[in-house]
Amino acid sequence: MFRTHYCGEVTDRLVGQDVVLSGWVNTRRDHGGVFFCDLRDITGLVQIVFRPEEVESEDLQKLIHSIRTEYVLRVEGQVCNRLEGAVNPNMNTGDIEVVISNIEILNASKPPVFDIENSRDVAEDVRLKYRYLDLRNPKMQDIFRKRSFFIQAVSDFLKKERFMYVETPILTKSTPEGARDYLVPSRVDNGAFFALPQSPQLFKQLLMVSGFDRYYQIAKCFRDEDLRADRQPEFTQLDIEMSFINEEDIYDVLDRMIKHTFKDFGVNVNTPIPRISYDESMRRFGSDAPDLRFEMELNDLSDIFIDTEFKVFQSAEVVIGLKVNGGSSFSRKDLDLLIAKAKDLGAKGLLWGKYTDNGLESPLSKFEKPDNIDKMIAKLEMEKGDLVLIVSDDKELAQTVLGAIRKHLAKKLGLIDDQDYNFVWVNDFPLLEYNEEECRYFAKHHPFTAPNVSLEELNKMSKDEILSVKSRAYDIVLNGVELGGGSIRIHNIAMQKKVFELLGITESEGREKFGFLLDALEYGTPPHGGIALGIDRLIMLATKTESIRDVIAFPKTQRAACPLTRAPSHVDNTQLMELGLKLKEKLNFENE
Ligand code: AMO
Repeated sequence: MFRTHYCGEVTDRLVGQDVVLSGWVNTRRDHGGVFFCDLRDITGLVQIVFRPEEVESEDLQKLIHSIRTEYVLRVEGQVCNRLEGAVNPNMNTGDIEVVISNIEILNASKPPVFDIENSRDVAEDVRLKYRYLDLRNPKMQDIFRKRSFFIQAVSDFLKKERFMYVETPILTKSTPEGARDYLVPSRVDNGAFFALPQSPQLFKQLLMVSGFDRYYQIAKCFRDEDLRADRQPEFTQLDIEMSFINEEDIYDVLDRMIKHTFKDFGVNVNTPIPRISYDESMRRFGSDAPDLRFEMELNDLSDIFIDTEFKVFQSAEVVIGLKVNGGSSFSRKDLDLLIAKAKDLGAKGLLWGKYTDNGLESPLSKFEKPDNIDKMIAKLEMEKGDLVLIVSDDKELAQTVLGAIRKHLAKKLGLIDDQDYNFVWVNDFPLLEYNEEECRYFAKHHPFTAPNVSLEELNKMSKDEILSVKSRAYDIVLNGVELGGGSIRIHNIAMQKKVFELLGITESEGREKFGFLLDALEYGTPPHGGIALGIDRLIMLATKTESIRDVIAFPKTQRAACPLTRAPSHVDNTQLMELGLKLKEKLNFENE
């Protein structure tokens, strides 16, 4: 028998009892004679003590002094109260210790590459290379316990709501979600490739055609895109689809599910979760993922500067201001950093104005009529000591730049309450967006999202009118991070063809890429819609973790590699030949 109890559960209720424990040596202190050790398992630590005078066996004494950190032990002993003064209030089991009568080394360990307790301070490439050691850290284990509980709570909830769990293929055909695909070459059909799913989007829609009514899946998704702190090439979605529903049904199920599951994180979510339209969110917060934990709103000043003689304002679509309360204490250096940030984000510049006893101190004063400046101060309700930051540019760019600066300043100025969990639905997104570089329209969500106008209306519209059409898509945002997104889908073949046409997908391309969906749409497809939540992002926010890599057991680095397995790796030529592949000369350095 390896254990009668788990280490972290040996409390003072067990004083006087014999126990058997198994675990890892967290720390050890060998005082020549008396040997102390904190033994660790998944539940925590317990102190074990070996007093040589109480054990006669010399072999055992020798064995005990050979024990090092991270050895795996099985111990037998008796639970005793610790001596007064030796009690450790910081430990769950700090009142007691287990006095050893027998000990067995189940396995030795090399000296660990880093101190397990402080592994989170170690360089990340080392942590990831020895991830199995990093994951011994109780803080890491706690994150994965919470992740596991979340998935169980979601499954319980969805089961009660009549959802069915269905797995969809990993080796499949490209589904467009805006990123590059990971491809898998076919051995059987040389020159042909599977794509790993960017999401189970089309399969879940097909399941609705099959009449499954309510589906969910904890789905692995793969996207070859530039990585950021909240993105991984391989990530997990909670993927949901429902038939015979509209937006209100999605909001209702998700609101209740989020409330139910966040209870486990000790968070009370007020429902219904508020909603804001895309336009309003961009106008007030400069983002389609607004952080509503603090105020500080953007303000359109275009009407004030309508008669401006300042060239920068004259040539811009909009002039937008962001008032920063008390911001006139910012130094020249602070302002230069903000200007650099705005330029990084694509703005031509960032104007500032400090409202002081001498009026508005600002580079703008040289160019703008005093009357307009006064009107601006009044519109922004500026008080002495406040700062205004101004971007004049194309509307979306000006909004986005000030939106990013708004989030940046809120952190810098400490305006965010860390304990706050602010959920919001963003809806009424544009159906399409125009990509200047590629000179074509893209679906703002994806090509299967229903417009909120009828086919007849769409057919009558000019190009400009179509650009202002909204879709039936919605995002759920938590603390300024997009947690999930979804939409009511197109279930009518004529509408689907029309949307493909708007996206510049020709009939033959549509058939080649999505023929199976188009076919299915002709066999009695019910009205349906769904959503997917990024589980990694959700756990990251719920556990207040800075990096998405901390909530994924075996993550990839920023360069999309795995330091532990050293994937991706080169393969030998035989394997390549079977797949009908040949590498370009210069890449094939290892196998030639
Ligand atoms: P979307 O593309 O918005 O929607 O993805 C849903 C959610 O998945 C998470 N996510 C990511 N998480 C980590 N790393 C990534 N690279 C990454 N990319 C996305 C985000 C995002 O909100 N098929 C649609 C859903 C639907 O319409 O039902 C889809 O995949 O949290």
